[in-house]
Amino acid sequence: MLKALRWNTNTLEVLDQTALPHEELWISCDNAEDVAKTIVEMKVRGAPAIGAAAAFGAALEAQRLRDLSLDTFRREMTKSLERLGATRPTAVNLFWAIERMTKTLKRPAENAGQLADWIRSEAEQIALEDVATNRAIGRHGADLFDKPVEILTHCNTGSLATVDFGTALGVIRTLAEDGKLTHVWVDETRPYLQGARLTAYELCQDGIPHTLITDNMAAHFMKQGRVDAVIVGADRIARNGDTANKIGTYGLAVLCAYHEIPFYVAAPLSTFDLSIASGEFIPIEERSAEEVTSIRGHRISPQQTSAAHPAFDVTPHSLITGIITERGVIHAPTEERILTWMGDGKESTE
Ligand code: MRU
Repeated sequence: MLKALRWNTNTLEVLDQTALPHEELWISCDNAEDVAKTIVEMKVRGAPAIGAAAAFGAALEAQRLRDLSLDTFRREMTKSLERLGATRPTAVNLFWAIERMTKTLKRPAENAGQLADWIRSEAEQIALEDVATNRAIGRHGADLFDKPVEILTHCNTGSLATVDFGTALGVIRTLAEDGKLTHVWVDETRPYLQGARLTAYELCQDGIPHTLITDNMAAHFMKQGRVDAVIVGADRIARNGDTANKIGTYGLAVLCAYHEIPFYVAAPLSTFDLSIASGEFIPIEERSAEEVTSIRGHRISPQQTSAAHPAFDVTPHSLITGIITERGVIHAPTEERILTWMGDGKESTE
């Protein structure tokens, strides 16, 4: 399976996802700034992958600074973590990973070298956990279906968007392994085309039958009865279950409600942001208008025409059938259910 990141003790290579599917280019990163650039430039993207990349960026920086005094090390590392945190605003996994690094940085230590080793271990731990998490999400998600299904998905949530395997695409992969997947509808995901370029690529590699559609075709195939469920990923889930994900997700949820099709979000617990009450507080990244007026450098609209480009939208929790996490499925998510469920780890039963 193609991975987003290649980590080997003290070296990090990032797969340039902007070059896919035509070229497989690896970018070598030496420090936190190199990694921050790959995140800003979308060479690495997808909430869990961004979190893991930032953690490895911190690990690289820590190795570079390990001979400094403890105070100077902590001060310089704090600056690097701030830089990594300023790359993309919506995916909370980034801030979750940085928070884990910050906690490690604050541990009492004998010298900077010791802290640097702990930071590296913490980054490796984040990556290891993500792989196990995605497998568990895949299992819980696939168990929701008892007969072969056609799934529609949006954006890219596979091994390229995580450390390995994927979240929503992990559920799709598990369904395929279980012999319960007939076909996948892949939304192209305008304007950045994560579906057309990345999800289609991953599905080709796995030999999973799929058809690429433009985002405005979803309603048509739903009406024809060709979509049994929609499964998407998430960038941030508020305390009440409102979910930010790639622009276009909210529209899919509305269509699902109209056609009475289950709409599932697949995401690790690290994507929940319990500090915010609802989706209205989720910061939405605004990207350049040029990504809308041009496709891969080719201008498609008049020079004078401007464009809007919110990179994410928020789906209200009332439209979500269930959130598939590594601990199970939170059905019909509400604040009460999420808090109870996060507190005691119990699955909701309705
Ligand atoms: O802008 P991107 O490509 O980083 O957006 C990615 C998404 O919206 C994904 O659906 C989300 O991060 C979940 S990835 C497992």
